Amino acid sequence: MAIEIDLSDVRRDYETHAISRKDMDPDPFVQFGRWLQRARDLELLDATAMTLATADPGGRPSARVVLLKHVDEEGFCWYSDARSQKGQEIDANPQAALLFHWRDFSRQVRVHGRVTRLPADDAEKYFLMRPEGSRFSAAASHQSTEVESRSHLEDEVLRLRAAYPDGDVPRPESWLGYRLVPEYFEFWQGQENRLHDRIVYTPVESGWAMKRISP
Ligand SMILES: Cc1cc2nc3c(=O)[nH]c(=O)nc-3n(C[C@H](O)[C@H](O)[C@H](O)COP(=O)(O)O)c2cc1C
Repeated sequence: MAIEIDLSDVRRDYETHAISRKDMDPDPFVQFGRWLQRARDLELLDATAMTLATADPGGRPSARVVLLKHVDEEGFCWYSDARSQKGQEIDANPQAALLFHWRDFSRQVRVHGRVTRLPADDAEKYFLMRPEGSRFSAAASHQSTEVESRSHLEDEVLRLRAAYPDGDVPRPESWLGYRLVPEYFEFWQGQENRLHDRIVYTPVESGWAMKRISP
C-alpha cells in the first residue's frame, strides 16, 4: 500500500451556545445573512466559498468550490463557465446543492434547489468588475477540458494580451452567472459531545416552515 493515513483519532470538541428555534429568524435568507455576516466580520478566509454539488443525468454526483457573489430572496449566485463539467450537469439536471462551512464557528449551512442561468447582462457587468488578470485567464480557459500543458494556457493569455493591449478582452459567451433558488435550508451548529443543533426550513404557502432535526 503506497499510502495509508488513519484519521480515526482526529477529533475536536465543539463548544458553543446551543441554538433554539426562537433564536432563528423565520426567514432563512435573513438567518443566512446573519451567519454570513458573522463570518465576514471576522474576516475568515474564503468566508464566501461554498461547495456546489451537481449530478449528471445518471445520478453520479460531483462537487467543487465556487464563490458566492450575490444572495437575495431570489437565491444564491455565482459565476462560472457553462462549458465546464458543472455547467453541463446543470444543463442536464438543474437540481443542485450548496454547502457553506465556517469551521471557526463550527457551522455549516446546506441549501438545496433548482439552478437557473442569470441573464448575460449580469455576467457582463460582473466580468468587467473582475481584475484584468482574471478576465484574461477566463478568456484563455475552456474550463474542465484537457489542456496539453500549463505553457499552452500561458501562451494563450499572452496571445490575448497582445490582441487586447488595453485589457478589454471580451467575456467568453459561455462565462455566465447562475442562481440556485432554494427549496431547502439547513443550519447546523456544532455542539459539545456531538449533540449538534440542526434547524431545517422548507417552503410552505405562507413562507417557510422551521423544524429541528436530530444530529
Ligand atoms: C476557493 C475557491 C473558489 C473558487 N471559485 C470559483 C468560482 O467562483 N467559479 C468557478 O467556476 N470556479 C471556482 N473555483 C474552481 C472550482 O472549484 C472548479 O475547479 C472549477 O469551477 C471547475 O469545476 P468543474 O470541472 O467541476 O466544472 C474555485 C475554487 C476554489 C478552491
